[in-house]
Amino acid sequence: MQPETSNSYRRKFNLSDRLISALDAGLRTVFTPTRATRPSPSASVPQAELSVEEKQQAAALMRVNHVGEICAQALYESQALFSRSESLRKHFEQAAQEELDHLAWTADRLTELGSHTSHLAPAWWMGAFAWGSLAGLAGDKWSLGFVVETERQVEAHLASHLQRLPEADAASRAIVDQMRREEAEHADAAAAAGARPLPAPIPELMRTAAKVMTTVAHRI
Ligand SMILES: [Fe+2]
Ligand SMILES: [Fe+2]
Repeated sequence: MQPETSNSYRRKFNLSDRLISALDAGLRTVFTPTRATRPSPSASVPQAELSVEEKQQAAALMRVNHVGEICAQALYESQALFSRSESLRKHFEQAAQEELDHLAWTADRLTELGSHTSHLAPAWWMGAFAWGSLAGLAGDKWSLGFVVETERQVEAHLASHLQRLPEADAASRAIVDQMRREEAEHADAAAAAGARPLPAPIPELMRTAAKVMTTVAHRI
């Protein structure tokens, strides 16, 4: 009886321990500046002088993308928290680390554009953490399916931003294009890991939630 008791105690302890770690990561994501581990793609392109209108237009789009990266952190952290297999947990934690560069690049670009990140960052993080927790609790293959669907939607969304960003803003465009390519890789990796395609109406619900987020974050 003794080993069983201590095992179940250890499992509980590990889950609460990881929950605290995820919440700690969330607080850092939302409230402290993130330092990128790779140079920003904007560093290698010539900086153009932008008009006030161009800066405002670019900042609104980059703020939306920064919120997307806050959500990516919350999703991967929560999915790692509830994943059944240790290897998938490591996969999600590794993905969250890679997404930190996107978070840092978009935040830094907003500063360069003289603008700010979303004032609703804590709410975006909590909402995405709830979505990711549901996906994680549904099981590993569904959780991976959720990653594939999310990353594909983000990839399409970033492609649309390449059409909408000011032509002269090569710096923002370079960041968005690099992120778009990496989100596609994240989707491919999750698909290769055994993702199960999500049934209707879940992808549509996700699109609706994303639409609410992008509309609000565009402004605040
Ligand atoms: Fe990302
Ligand atoms: Fe991604």
